[in-house]
Amino acid sequence: MATLALVSRPAGVLPRIASGCSPAVLSAASVTSVQQRKLHHAVLPKGKGGRSSSSGIAATVFGATGFLGRYVVNRLGRIGSQVVIPHRCDQYDVMYLRPMGDLGQILFMDWDARNKDSIKHALEHSNVVINLVGREWETSNYRFEDVYVSIPQQIAKAAREAGVTKLVHMSHLNADLRSPSKYLRNKAVGEAAVRDEFPDAIIMKPSEIFGREDRFFNYFASKTIVCE
Ligand SMILES: NC(=O)c1ccc[n+]([C@@H]2O[C@H](COP(=O)([O-])OP(=O)(O)OC[C@H]3O[C@@H](n4cnc5c(N)ncnc54)[C@H](OP(=O)(O)O)[C@@H]3O)[C@@H](O)[C@H]2O)c1
Repeated sequence: MATLALVSRPAGVLPRIASGCSPAVLSAASVTSVQQRKLHHAVLPKGKGGRSSSSGIAATVFGATGFLGRYVVNRLGRIGSQVVIPHRCDQYDVMYLRPMGDLGQILFMDWDARNKDSIKHALEHSNVVINLVGREWETSNYRFEDVYVSIPQQIAKAAREAGVTKLVHMSHLNADLRSPSKYLRNKAVGEAAVRDEFPDAIIMKPSEIFGREDRFFNYFASKTIVCE
């Protein structure tokens, strides 16, 4: 039976996407399109859990070059995970991420969010995928629909097809189809699109996040306050 074959697997083979979710939520098409891959020896869990051990996690972090990305990558690197960082900027602009993992554990690659093959290529060796892609304004190249719906949908689709175990998608606390904000409406549509492609996706819905590089406190800090 196809669904049973998904759950029982030989040792050393990555758990497949269907292992944690009800067979009812997966269509026959999605079941057959999931790949079966072997866990590379480089990411077999070993060591005591520090940066130089191996957590068994091979994670692709889309949007790692942003504010949250550096914290997520550091957190993954700190427990000895292998992190693939697809980026679209000059490689010298992402060098600050390199020391976050042990030698060879942080891997950089070019990607184009509109190119399905480049998305597939970025996550083909990972068992965890994290999507942090976002932009608070629209550009002539990328509308909110692209950034918050099409790109997450393609990432979720590629993750399901590649047999990725965990997909984490970053949404927003106030994502709502009835929101007056176009950004938040698209976030809500994106959540549904991700769920359609990857029913077990973990969708995180934070409120405003603050930190050294945030765009909230830094915005006010950059303003000159005139007291009368
Ligand atoms: N920060 C918050 O307070 C907050 C609160 C709630 C939810 N969120 C959500 O959390 C996620 C991450 O937030 P953040 O503050 O880290 O965002 P950020 O600093 O703006 O970083 C966004 C990341 O997405 C990438 N990206 C944007 N558009 C892209 C495109 N068209 N193609 C490829 N890459 C693209 C950026 O790459 P480049 O560097 O190449 O531009 C960057 O790596 C977003 O989805 C955001 O909506 C954030």
